[in-house]
Amino acid sequence: MGRIPSALLVLVVVAMCCAVAMANGEGERERMFLLQDMKRVVKTDAGEMKVARSSKGWISDRPNIHVGFVTMEPNSLFIPQYLDSDLILFVRRGEARVGSIYRDELIERRLKNGDVYRIPAGSIFYLVNTADGQRLQIICSIEKSDSIGWGTFQSFFIGGGSYPTSILAGFERSTISTALNVSESQVRQILTTQTSGPIISLSNSHSDSQQSRVWTQFLEMRHRERVQCLKRMATHFEEEVTEEEEEPIMRKLLNSVFGKEVTGNHVRRSSKKPHSYNLFNRKPDFENDYGSSVTLDQSDYSPLKRSGVGLYLVNLKAGSMMAPHLNPTATEYGIVLRGSGRIQIVFPNGTLAMNAQVNEGDVFWIPRYFPFCQIASQNGPFEFFGFTTSARRNRPQFLVGSNSVLQSMRGPAFAAAFGVSEERLKRIVNAQSESIILPSGSASEEKVKNEMVSEAIGSFSDEMAMGFEGIF
Ligand SMILES: *[C@@H]1O[C@H](CO)[C@@H](O)[C@H](O)[C@H]1NC(C)=O
Ligand SMILES: *[C@@H]1O[C@H](CO)[C@@H](O)[C@H](O)[C@H]1NC(C)=O
Repeated sequence: MGRIPSALLVLVVVAMCCAVAMANGEGERERMFLLQDMKRVVKTDAGEMKVARSSKGWISDRPNIHVGFVTMEPNSLFIPQYLDSDLILFVRRGEARVGSIYRDELIERRLKNGDVYRIPAGSIFYLVNTADGQRLQIICSIEKSDSIGWGTFQSFFIGGGSYPTSILAGFERSTISTALNVSESQVRQILTTQTSGPIISLSNSHSDSQQSRVWTQFLEMRHRERVQCLKRMATHFEEEVTEEEEEPIMRKLLNSVFGKEVTGNHVRRSSKKPHSYNLFNRKPDFENDYGSSVTLDQSDYSPLKRSGVGLYLVNLKAGSMMAPHLNPTATEYGIVLRGSGRIQIVFPNGTLAMNAQVNEGDVFWIPRYFPFCQIASQNGPFEFFGFTTSARRNRPQFLVGSNSVLQSMRGPAFAAAFGVSEERLKRIVNAQSESIILPSGSASEEKVKNEMVSEAIGSFSDEMAMGFEGIF
């Protein structure tokens, strides 16, 4: 190195800086498949909810799933509400008790780390963080296909006061007082007391804990009473809205609450009550020395059928890669749970659409049909999980690897398509003996680096570039 002229050294430094800058400061386009529009929709002393939405892009197949992140402090309650969207909850950390009305019955389930649970659109539910010293973290898909089209999703709070506002507050006070069979002043009291937001602490013994007491009582009621209490609120709601123009929507929501089919008058009953499914305990569908992957579809967890959403979980060891593949039937959303890596996505015309570094908490999406791959960083394992827009078995098509399309189609026609001899194609295709999850390409990371450097020095003369190649 000592003999390299100093001008050259300066250029080397410049080139390396450029490479670093490109790696860090990727342009807008390079991050177009990250859901960066993260909006906080709830924030209280006892917890918060954030939602990652797609930003407006060129692509018409906009994501129709939002990804929600709910954090609840120990001993807190997300007060009863229903949404105009289907929810699939995934417990990232902690323990929860979730109550929801199903076929006129209150179903309560305890959820733990890794559990998946579906809450249908229009179904009233509440969430309690039961663990004493532990924060609860939930990641959920918010599937908007049933939504009433007001931008993002809508929450309808059953309980509430001045913040959040209960939907009951929208009716005439006398109507509610008749419906609940209590005095109007009692109605006023229950509809104005709540001020601490949708997530409240149940342990708070001071100041404005009156509603905390109310909700604690609510949770301590016996099952039957609790369901009566929720139903009374909702039944009243039904009577009132039959007069309204919006009836179909309201009816739909209510039908969903009471388990009737949306169309027709017949009631279809399923013998299966809602249950949860643990993603972490599931045996991997694929596993080798470099990582593992698990998928969850409607054949394993039947509630997914009604949502049209599937789930997956992938673990890659440091440096490993999920081989380039595409989803023929689904759009995919991913959330990084641990570690960091790169997501590369390719346009239909064969140009790189995104090559972005992602870290814990980042959300990305991959349009149906688009080829992509995920590469773990060299520093450690890369774990991500997510949702797909198909509850059926999503059979990804692998483009590279021993089970790939290249492998099964390597005939004369394919060789001709690449313009190489069959023998040559065979040698190339057979070079990779692993499938699906591929070992650390010292190759791949090195190549990325080299490409960046050569791009960075691309603006200099070719001779210079060759000089650099000698150095690197
Ligand atoms: C309303 O409440 C009164 C007592 O306050 C009770 O006697 C009456 O039966 C209740 N009516 C209904 C319909 O529940
Ligand atoms: C490939 O397609 C993308 C998206 O439509 C476009 O932005 C890009 O310019 C295209 N590249 C080439 C080389 O045609």
